[in-house]
Amino acid sequence: MSKQIPAVLLLVVLLIGNVWADGSAKSGYEFIKAETRAMQDDDMQNPGFIAVEEGRGLFNKSPASGKSCASCHGEAGEKLAAKNLARYPIYDKAQGGIVRLQDKIKTCREKQSGESALLANHHELIALETFVRHLAFGEPVNVQTDGEMADVLKKGQEMYNVRYGLIDMSCAHCHDRYPGQMIRGQKISQGQGNGFPAYRLDIGEMTNLDQRIQQCLTLMRAEPFDADSEEIKLLGAYVMSRSNGLKIETPAVRY
Ligand code: HEC
Ligand code: HEC
Repeated sequence: MSKQIPAVLLLVVLLIGNVWADGSAKSGYEFIKAETRAMQDDDMQNPGFIAVEEGRGLFNKSPASGKSCASCHGEAGEKLAAKNLARYPIYDKAQGGIVRLQDKIKTCREKQSGESALLANHHELIALETFVRHLAFGEPVNVQTDGEMADVLKKGQEMYNVRYGLIDMSCAHCHDRYPGQMIRGQKISQGQGNGFPAYRLDIGEMTNLDQRIQQCLTLMRAEPFDADSEEIKLLGAYVMSRSNGLKIETPAVRY
């Protein structure tokens, strides 16, 4: 019982409160508890740094036959430009359309380092994604919004506004209308992407943006889209574009 939110109750809870109507983008950081913020801000306490360090190790590891990431991108990844990293996901027709940071890492890992393929959201890919994204810490998110990306974001926005699952709500219901409202002891935020990959205290795991979206779909009692589906890429791209201008916090700490 406690794990399931009755739809009616949820709606009642959400409809009582006042509607938050300030149009500006706010990081999830502004909605978490003071002690969670303190944990995020302290590199020694922030559990996300375990993933950063694991990613750093993988980045510097030489594969049996092939080159380490570090051999091309620098030991600390210093040859990767933070400004470029802040642009992900990008659109590249030659690479099959939407390219998430983890897709780019995966391709480099296979084609340049000569490693075998890993499934999307594999533990090692998330560690690498966390390490690489952390290189752009403090850089404002800067997803392209024109050109071919315009169409991608339009589709993503449509999906964001569609109702899913047994609770029959859209992403926008919670994250556009009700930020600041409490749900199960948590404050609903704008659902921004600038903190990801982030450490989730609730499940005790690093979570990238796609996984967080999948977790929300589960919360909505909908069937989550697959890790490599076009749907999850469209939603992820749209969510990240809403975060344009917000500083990258990876690794953020979230409940
Ligand atoms: C043999 C050299 C080489 C190795 C090894 C290599 N890369 Fe790359 N990487 C490149 C080149 C060249 C590019 C730029 C061309 C492209 O986008 O594919 C690139 C692009 C990237 C980008 C995109 C940067 C941007 O500005 O958009 C990321 C992220 C990246 N690599 C991560 C990795 C990681 C992580 C590994 C190890 C798993 C790795 N690379 C291994 C050569 C390498
Ligand atoms: C019933 C309400 C609800 C719905 C509907 C919902 N979410 Fe969430 N979402 C939450 C809660 C609660 C959290 C955790 C607290 C927070 O950051 O809002 C969360 C967190 C997030 C976060 C992480 C924000 C951060 O800074 O850590 C993202 C991104 C997100 N949701 C995206 C989505 C997307 C995309 C959809 C639609 C597929 C969706 N959510 C639907 C309730 C909802």
